[in-house]
Amino acid sequence: MITIDAIRQPIGEDLKAFDQFVADNINAEGELLQEMLTYALSSRGKGVRPILTMLAALTCMPDRPNPESRHCSKRTYLAALIMEMIHTASLIHDDVLDSADERRGKPSVNAKWQSNLAIILGDYILATTMALGMASAQYDIVSYVGSAMATLCEGEILQSQHARNFDTTRGDYFDIIYQKTASLLGVCAALGALSVGAAREDVERMRKYGEALGMAFQIQDDILDYNRNNNTGKPANNDLREHKITLPLIEVMEHASDDERKEMIELLKRCDEDEAALDTLHAKVNNGGGIERATETMQAYLSRAMHLVSKYEDTPYRKALIDLCTFVAERDK
Ligand code: FPP
Ligand code: MG
Repeated sequence: MITIDAIRQPIGEDLKAFDQFVADNINAEGELLQEMLTYALSSRGKGVRPILTMLAALTCMPDRPNPESRHCSKRTYLAALIMEMIHTASLIHDDVLDSADERRGKPSVNAKWQSNLAIILGDYILATTMALGMASAQYDIVSYVGSAMATLCEGEILQSQHARNFDTTRGDYFDIIYQKTASLLGVCAALGALSVGAAREDVERMRKYGEALGMAFQIQDDILDYNRNNNTGKPANNDLREHKITLPLIEVMEHASDDERKEMIELLKRCDEDEAALDTLHAKVNNGGGIERATETMQAYLSRAMHLVSKYEDTPYRKALIDLCTFVAERDK
């Protein structure tokens, strides 16, 4: 079993320095704003995005120094910080949109301070981050970031549009998870490579690696949502309650007759207020092979991601990028 700590191990010192970099650069004037900011940053989660940026940077260092003497520069930290803050802000906004009370086992920002303040906190984090990026004059890094944020918003709108209409197809689902998760992880890895001056083809290869990893990451997230024993800190079956059709359900609906499909949609429409309907639909997905088939698709993305980094020299950083793929498949939180 691969743990996130094992993946963090080759960049332990860099991650410590990165935490200090965040503490030094992301602060607020005003007691309440600082309290909210501290709260939001204190439960940042696994830190997959900064890990990805740093590992991509250290894997792609163009002059290939001895692996033991490789360390990240401030430029890599800045790229990692920007991506982590976009992610943090997007989850704060996402919990408002989903009316979610919990995030990572703790009350969400909106549950603690209400939605209006949560929205402003998310905006503040984005604004501060962009100001930092501009002040650093690392315009090549900053220029990647605007479109990454726009893509996230497109994904979120597309998802809520389909959740309202109960009409998410397989193609829609892949568009949504690409936009809301994979594109951002692709930019994290690409920026790691860019931050060390890697060749354009390496920047693009890392982007593709991050995107494939991100597709798998979101599929696993959607699978975990069906697992009532998961350790995610989120209540199970959130997606069904929010009327979201994700891959495990799509797999079962695609193998069902027209009548069965209609019945599943009718059940889905009631999942936000009817526990019996939720249980029935949950059982149909579990017993209908939805989880197994979604897992196969996830594995295919991970094989692609592993293949993409296989061309790099064998260093602890490349190994950690490969281990990250195994971790995504095995994780239960
Ligand atoms: C989590 O999805 C949500 C995202 C990965 C993206 C959210 C994006 C926005 C709200 C757009 C705003 C963008 C910016 C740049 C602030 P989920 O609800 O499936 O996951 P969850 O179960 O963790 O909540
Ligand atoms: Mg959500």
